[in-house]
Amino acid sequence: MSFEPKILSFLCNWCAYAGADLAGISRFQYPPNTRVIRVMCSGRIDPAFIPRTFLAGFDGVMILGCHPGDCHYISGNIQAERKIAFLRKLLADEGIGGERLLLDWVSAGEGQRFAELTKGFTELIRSLGPFPVTEEMEGKLRAIHASLAGEKIRWMVGKAPELMEKENVYGERVDAERVGEVLETTVREELRKNRILIFLEAGTMTAKEISKKLNLSLKETLPLLVSLVGEGGIGFDPSEESHYPRYVRSG
Ligand code: FES
Repeated sequence: MSFEPKILSFLCNWCAYAGADLAGISRFQYPPNTRVIRVMCSGRIDPAFIPRTFLAGFDGVMILGCHPGDCHYISGNIQAERKIAFLRKLLADEGIGGERLLLDWVSAGEGQRFAELTKGFTELIRSLGPFPVTEEMEGKLRAIHASLAGEKIRWMVGKAPELMEKENVYGERVDAERVGEVLETTVREELRKNRILIFLEAGTMTAKEISKKLNLSLKETLPLLVSLVGEGGIGFDPSEESHYPRYVRSG
């Protein structure tokens, strides 16, 4: 059976959306596989949208914004670039090909470029095949979504530009690399914790069973469990009479 990719495109109102319009008016040919959502700026794209898009059945996501230097909100596209690069890495690390996510630039006068990017991306997704929706993949996507939409990560992402641009009371400024490292470590930890919460939806588990599913050592898994118990997300199952404590979701 031939596979027709389903692609969701987020287009910036001021540039790529107008570029798409121009492509239509100019009758440039491009595949009809994309559904379009118009946004006011590529910086408006919340990384948490992306795992939800795949969960909704799309095979690829395309984000097209104004060229660097042309963003109507000054740095929206630069912020989008940082967020998407990070998300792409996160997806790749989890075995969910980051290549299914494209961020690029199209101006209002580049109808031809819009058509070419759409064509190229559709062909790429066609060659990759349908998004593999397995139970494990679904769990990973749900965990990524929960982590990115969680309060802790939102606060850090919102605070990051301020940390990099303003000096603290000691006259120091945190460099972008350091902020990126801290954010990456925190997201990974949140992601693993959310994966544990999802595992426990199916029933109780021992620490060893959880570490095996996470593909981590017991030493790496225990601090995550301690943190989740402290936050009230999980507890011990009192009804289980096993030699090893079994974890259960709270509430
Ligand atoms: Fe187009 Fe910001 S206004 S990317």
